Amino acid sequence: MKKFLIAGNWKMNKLTAEAAAFAKELKAKNFSNADEVAVLVPFTQLTAVGEGLAGSGIGFGAQNVHFEKSGAFTGEISVPMLEEIGVNYCIVGHSERREYFGETDETVNAKLKALIEAGITPILCVGESLAVREAQGEQTFVAGQLVADFNGLTREGAGKVVIAYEPIWAIGTGKTATPEQAEEMCAFIRGVIGGLYDNDLADKMLILYGGSMKASNAADLLAKPDINGGLIGGASLKIDDFSAIVDAAAQLK
Ligand code: PGA
Repeated sequence: MKKFLIAGNWKMNKLTAEAAAFAKELKAKNFSNADEVAVLVPFTQLTAVGEGLAGSGIGFGAQNVHFEKSGAFTGEISVPMLEEIGVNYCIVGHSERREYFGETDETVNAKLKALIEAGITPILCVGESLAVREAQGEQTFVAGQLVADFNGLTREGAGKVVIAYEPIWAIGTGKTATPEQAEEMCAFIRGVIGGLYDNDLADKMLILYGGSMKASNAADLLAKPDINGGLIGGASLKIDDFSAIVDAAAQLK
């Protein structure tokens, strides 16, 4: 049976009361596929969301982390700090962090290693800009990101990573990649991972699509053989929208 992960990326949204209420409501949905659902929330909402989801099977996590365990890094949050809260997941290398906060493949690589060592599942984001796609350079670009981001990761470590293909031109724009475009790139990513490690590992890897995924297009995207779920921004902020995507995945089981 195909494995999915339906992950909501709240970005910089929701204060604590709203976040806690959302977690309670999500738990109350009693999804049959709850263990294939997660929400990635602001640091200050992690504790409330973790408490609200406790016992539900639904995962939760952060949207970023620092790669050092401790030290003089004003304003940063470390992996042990996330471990203490009990998070299951952490997004790494989201294009917004790469674009606005100086995230590089080098820091992404260090963060992947730190999270894997702690047993927190990284959700690694890769994806090309519109200019790169218009120049038909998307496969070369994404392959380059993957080679750099997985640099030095053991087979065992690499097997813990979830990849999210997020074409930058589709994020928050309402312009979704077609299921065919998304499938083509997710299959390509699986091939690159197969080349870096082996096909057995690549076949088991969860590869998500992200970029304006919503209830109305989720089923078509999730039905594609190489798409194992979604990283959902805007449509993860409302319980009904997000639940509809979770249900779409359940129906494909
Ligand atoms: P979006 O964001 O669903 O709002 O396009 C996806 C993401 O950035 O993870």
